[in-house]
Amino acid sequence: MKSSSASRNPSPATAQLRHADRWAIVARLLPGIAHDLSSPLNVVVGRARLIASGGVDAAQVERGARIVADQSAKLAAIVAPLLDFARDEPAGPAAVDPAAIVDRALELLAPFAHERRVAVTRTGGGEPLVLHADPSLLRHLLAAVVVNAIQATPRGGAVTVELRRARATPPGGTGSPAQDVVQLVVEDGGPGLPAAVLPEVLRPFVSTRPSGDGAGLGLAVAAGIAQEHGGWLAAHSDPGRGARIEIFLPLARLG
Ligand SMILES: Nc1ncnc2c1ncn2[C@@H]1O[C@H](COP(=O)(O)OP(=O)(O)O)[C@@H](O)[C@H]1O
Ligand SMILES: [Mg+2]
Repeated sequence: MKSSSASRNPSPATAQLRHADRWAIVARLLPGIAHDLSSPLNVVVGRARLIASGGVDAAQVERGARIVADQSAKLAAIVAPLLDFARDEPAGPAAVDPAAIVDRALELLAPFAHERRVAVTRTGGGEPLVLHADPSLLRHLLAAVVVNAIQATPRGGAVTVELRRARATPPGGTGSPAQDVVQLVVEDGGPGLPAAVLPEVLRPFVSTRPSGDGAGLGLAVAAGIAQEHGGWLAAHSDPGRGARIEIFLPLARLG
């Protein structure tokens, strides 16, 4: 597809697969979120009980109330990215900064990475880059790819998301000319993509996870979103290294 804008409406089937995958991501993130809520919640309960006991002076009541307020704000901040992602609806293309999209997606995945003791960092993106894209769909694309990377990485390992400007040729030998793109490279510290699934991995319902743990939609949905934006996805796996998923999205033409 040559169009560089997200102008096509997805088919109802595509919209349903995206919806299913979005909820699969939400479900996967819930345990980490619940874990991160427990510590501030315990502080809130403890302080509120202390105040309610009546055995504290006015200064202690004030200090306790401040702690309750601070910890409640922390609770809200932990839940907000997940609620935003769950409610997010495609609103059509706009001028977006890919670095900001990556950072929002990584913020959403932080409790998941934290629970699994995996460090996730973004590199690059220093220069101003603009995509003409739907921010909600791009966040979903990123989340689907980075969730896989975090899942594949053992405890103590690292995932990197590198953002750069590049010139790249669309795959498939269509003779399409090279384009100016944003290239996002997601690398993990896992075992790499199984050779048997690598050629098929961007198709829907391809999964090596135990049934119930993965419907095989993540990479297919991610590839579909890239394609809808005139871009593409490439999956690589070199022996002895983790997987490398590359996302190519055409830069917006300015002016
Ligand atoms: N970073 C990765 N490292 C190793 N294998 C991966 C990685 N990402 C995807 N895969 C493989 O690709 C399959 C398909 O991924 P995906 O489309 O996200 O579906 P699901 O995660 O539901 O299985 C996974 O089951 C797994 O075998
Ligand atoms: Mg997945």
